[in-house]
Amino acid sequence: MNSPSSAALGRCPIDHQALQRQLAPNGCPVSANAAAFNPFEPAYMQSPGDYLRWAREQEPVFWSPQLGYWVVTRYEDVKAVFRDNILFSPAIALEKITPAPPQVMEILQSYGFAMNRTMVNEDEPDHMERRRLLMDAFLPERLSTFEPMVRSLARQYMDRFVDKGRADLVREMFYEIPLNIALKFLGVPDEGAEQLRQFAVAHTLNTWGRPSPQEQLEIAHNVGRFWQTAQQILDDMRARPDGEGWMYETIRQHLAHPDVVPESYMRSMMMAILAAAHETTSNATANAFLTLLTQRKAWEDICANPALIPNAVEECLRVAGSIIAWRRIATDDAVVGGVRIPKGGKLLVVMASANFDPRHFENPDEVDVYREGAVEHLTFGYGAHQCMGKNIGRMQMRVFLEEFVRRLPHIRLVAGQQIDYLSNTSFRGPSELWVEWDPALNPGRSGSPTAASAEPFYIGPPAKDSIARTVVVRGKHEEGEGLCRIELADPRGGPLPAWSAGAHVDLIAGGFRRKYSLCGPADDRSLLQVVVQREGDGRGGSRHFCDTLEVGQALQLSGPKNLFKLDESARRFVLIAAGIGITPVMAMADRLKRIGKAYEIHYAGRSRRQMALLDRLEREHGGHLTLYVKAEGRRMDLPTVLAHVDGATRVYACGPDRLIDELENLSERWPEGVLHFEHFSADGSALDPAREHAFVAHLKDSDVDVLVPPDKTLLQALQSAGFDVPCDCNEGLCGTCEVAVVEGEVDHRDKVLTKSERAANQRMLACCSRAAGQKIILAL
Ligand code: HEM
Ligand code: FES
Repeated sequence: MNSPSSAALGRCPIDHQALQRQLAPNGCPVSANAAAFNPFEPAYMQSPGDYLRWAREQEPVFWSPQLGYWVVTRYEDVKAVFRDNILFSPAIALEKITPAPPQVMEILQSYGFAMNRTMVNEDEPDHMERRRLLMDAFLPERLSTFEPMVRSLARQYMDRFVDKGRADLVREMFYEIPLNIALKFLGVPDEGAEQLRQFAVAHTLNTWGRPSPQEQLEIAHNVGRFWQTAQQILDDMRARPDGEGWMYETIRQHLAHPDVVPESYMRSMMMAILAAAHETTSNATANAFLTLLTQRKAWEDICANPALIPNAVEECLRVAGSIIAWRRIATDDAVVGGVRIPKGGKLLVVMASANFDPRHFENPDEVDVYREGAVEHLTFGYGAHQCMGKNIGRMQMRVFLEEFVRRLPHIRLVAGQQIDYLSNTSFRGPSELWVEWDPALNPGRSGSPTAASAEPFYIGPPAKDSIARTVVVRGKHEEGEGLCRIELADPRGGPLPAWSAGAHVDLIAGGFRRKYSLCGPADDRSLLQVVVQREGDGRGGSRHFCDTLEVGQALQLSGPKNLFKLDESARRFVLIAAGIGITPVMAMADRLKRIGKAYEIHYAGRSRRQMALLDRLEREHGGHLTLYVKAEGRRMDLPTVLAHVDGATRVYACGPDRLIDELENLSERWPEGVLHFEHFSADGSALDPAREHAFVAHLKDSDVDVLVPPDKTLLQALQSAGFDVPCDCNEGLCGTCEVAVVEGEVDHRDKVLTKSERAANQRMLACCSRAAGQKIILAL
């Protein structure tokens, strides 16, 4: 008879004492959650973002005794690790994560297996020199020839099943097309391609999986065969080195620069890229369809407006990327997210967790095809090693979605199917994906299923202008003199996206696009509320929104996006607003009240008639509110308001320049991170080429020089050179386009950085600021 379990006796089944006895290599006790972390159990693959939620919240960098790795889960930490590829070397990216028994090594050796440095696991300076020599084929203009090829294949494959009413999309389309395209891109003949799937699975399990010692033996044979096949392909290609494709370019660069592109690189790369160039895209495509068909509203939105597809691709890469974690090794003692990592420590950086970090993404658990900044996901990695093939992957995913929303918008997932993933740390995609539909309802029966899109196809990240949802004006209310509160709702009565205090949206109507902070109760998903101040002498946007827009009318909205986030960990909050600056402050006050923090609101205005949201402020925050109404002879005295600010206080302010300037002067001796502010508007950020000088931006991580001519912003020059620097306001207001400065004086023209941040000379806003001299060095 079994003895009664400890759980049955009412005791916790986890041996906490045993866990406490486990120590991480930095001497800290290992927590129960960290000890239990096992990326080879199904829950990790089913939803890696959810699986690591506890870590993002409680222990963002932890030691995993089961893996022997430090696991990094928050967005900023993952990005910081990717950013520093000297301190965090990629050398272990392709190392076997499960140590192999000696027989496995013997089997591999019997095939001559000699996997070594490729691109993704090469250190500097060799890596960058090689990357630059081999980058050309990946540039958007070179890739444009592939789009018609992908589209034509997509149509041919769909023709085969479009009338059947049921298909496993992985087997019938998503595996083979990316494979075909990858072979074409590489210049590899497609005979023998059918073996590659089996090989790629073996390679994934061998490198990132945890097979049993017995399974390892079989896998090793397949990996060995894969290696030999790759070598045979390479040798055949080398026999006629004038062929077309990236591997031919590699062979030619090897002949011209054998020291930069050595033989061992070519041999290893041939095998690695045969898997990486298509598995990643096949999986990402299947993940995207699974995501969008599960979130039917998102699918319907892209069917109704296919211009959203490029952004939907990025959103799917964010929530369901095909590479969910990657590896680095610390080359020296390091600190990540406040945790000390000893030299030689191995890191598993989990992009799939970072992509769900609420500190970076507003409302991260929701799939939102309208999400601004979806492109900031880390699924392609970041920095010097960022995926070279990202635009090939994006482009194919986009074409597939475009073809499906046109020809089979009514497909649905076959109910009850089990979605299986290969057990490993890094590569994620369903092995099958069954969909069904009624062929009698195929739109092609009444229209033309193969009509070409008239829009030019743009290769690269999504264009910001296409990412907007339609909302309707549900209500308009005069809030005082020249102030109009606008309530916006979903046209179909559906929920609007969630948002957090400090977030803003862009309203787009009548040829105007303007940013407004959200101020309504954040828990009301049926309405978004903004207050617009009518500016008689402005450029007409505010007048349009206040006067022309009517209740019931539709307009476009992008966002919400939050660049003025509340650090809720502080003890006490001082909220300062002047004029219309009350709107984000109102949302912050609501939030602080809800979470029970100590806060005070200081609100200044010319007269009560010109101050917004007064009724609600007094009703809901009366005990915390001090008003400074100029017409009543009361002015805000900032030194008094800020008399008790200490390191545990956070000051959030929104108002005109003079208020922010005064605050900055007063805050000079405050600890870093106490003051946060948002300006109303930028002035003078427009570029006047006659008054500018050209300069060179040297991108240190990429070892590239970018010339910034007088008539271009740094941001424009970086984007033209293929760097996905995100931007939002384009006028120095929001902080989205920040880049890290390594050296060189900056001519700061933004409204985001504080005086001390400018003095530190470590950051600049690429959309408006420039180099003061002839050259600037950036960490990009
Ligand atoms: C590197 C993801 C498609 C070629 C990487 C890395 C990731 C990644 C995570 C490592 C980044 C780092 O260390 O910072 C993906 C995803 C794809 C995709 C999610 C599809 C959706 C492709 C394709 C190709 C490709 C189609 C080639 C045709 C490469 C290369 C590197 C790389 C050459 C090494 C870059 C370097 O180390 O400098 N990719 N990839 N990838 N990828 Fe991709
Ligand atoms: Fe907003 Fe540059 S894009 S500050």
